[in-house]
Amino acid sequence: MAENLQTIIAQISEIAAEFNKDIQQTKSRDDTEQVKVKFLSRKGVVQNLFVLLGTLENQDRPRAGAELNRLKNDIQNAIDEKLKSFQTGKRSIELFDPTLPGKEYHIGSFHPLLQVLDEIKDIFVGMGFRIEEGNEIETDYHNFEALNIPPDHPSRDMHDTFYMGGKYLLRTHTSPVQIHTMEQQKPPIRMIAPGKCYRKDTPDASHSPIFNQVEGLCVDKGVSFGDLKGVVQAFAQKMFGKDAKVRFRPSFFPFTEPSAEYDFSCFCKGKGCRVCKNTGWLEISGAGMVDPAVFGFVDYDPQVYSGYAFGMGVERIAMLKYRVNDIRIFYENDVRFLEQF
Ligand code: PHE
Repeated sequence: MAENLQTIIAQISEIAAEFNKDIQQTKSRDDTEQVKVKFLSRKGVVQNLFVLLGTLENQDRPRAGAELNRLKNDIQNAIDEKLKSFQTGKRSIELFDPTLPGKEYHIGSFHPLLQVLDEIKDIFVGMGFRIEEGNEIETDYHNFEALNIPPDHPSRDMHDTFYMGGKYLLRTHTSPVQIHTMEQQKPPIRMIAPGKCYRKDTPDASHSPIFNQVEGLCVDKGVSFGDLKGVVQAFAQKMFGKDAKVRFRPSFFPFTEPSAEYDFSCFCKGKGCRVCKNTGWLEISGAGMVDPAVFGFVDYDPQVYSGYAFGMGVERIAMLKYRVNDIRIFYENDVRFLEQF
């Protein structure tokens, strides 16, 4: 129904009167906020009138619009004024009780694993390594095949791997980042790749189905096993102090040749404790010289380049550093444990 100018003007003054009555009766901020909603909200009284403007004849619209805008501003000012009056004066002082105990704020902290990871990154960045990001969901090709792990290799067993259907799986180690990096970059390469890994392991004091690794890879001309030992030794001393010792034991990985597993000396200094099962050493991960077959998958010439790679169990480093003898405690989120860091 089309409105005429007269009825709209009449409505404007009715609303003004109604507002004046309402605002005079407000006794608190809440009351005032309610009045504000009634008159100024998107479905409020004033907005409804603005909608009616559209039904007026063209020549009447400017006048009615101006009146309506004035009403809106007057209401807004009156409400602001009223709200301000509740901020000062006796009422607001009564609201504040200085005898109440203060609110205690808890300052959070980084998880011990993250702290250790940050330290690991710092040390390697200090030695000239870049940080590469990998994917937690990997292809069978990057997690296994290009690392020279053929389809019948036992580490592809359904029992230690989470397959996601098709060619995808949750990565079982960070080594696939070696492949991604070499696919995308030419030597020289010096990188570390930290991240979560997944294996279908039953949790116990030293196993968890989710754990963190840091992969290391260095490829250049003339890189030797001696460089690998030097870098790992330097890392151990930066992390655990001058007395830290590293031990390499011969081992086998399909993507390194020769391969080794390496241990750090335990904080019990060889006296023997539960964490090192009385051996004085803690196994950290595997390492070795990049197998020429892997270079074949990424089109690097093994006649020109050589490289070393290593893994590193972040939880193991953290256990050693903080003398924790059960890996599961890192994931339980018990504040009594976490707040010690
Ligand atoms: N990816 C291997 C593992 O998870 C460790 C490793 C990394 C071995 C790099 C050799 C070279 O057990």
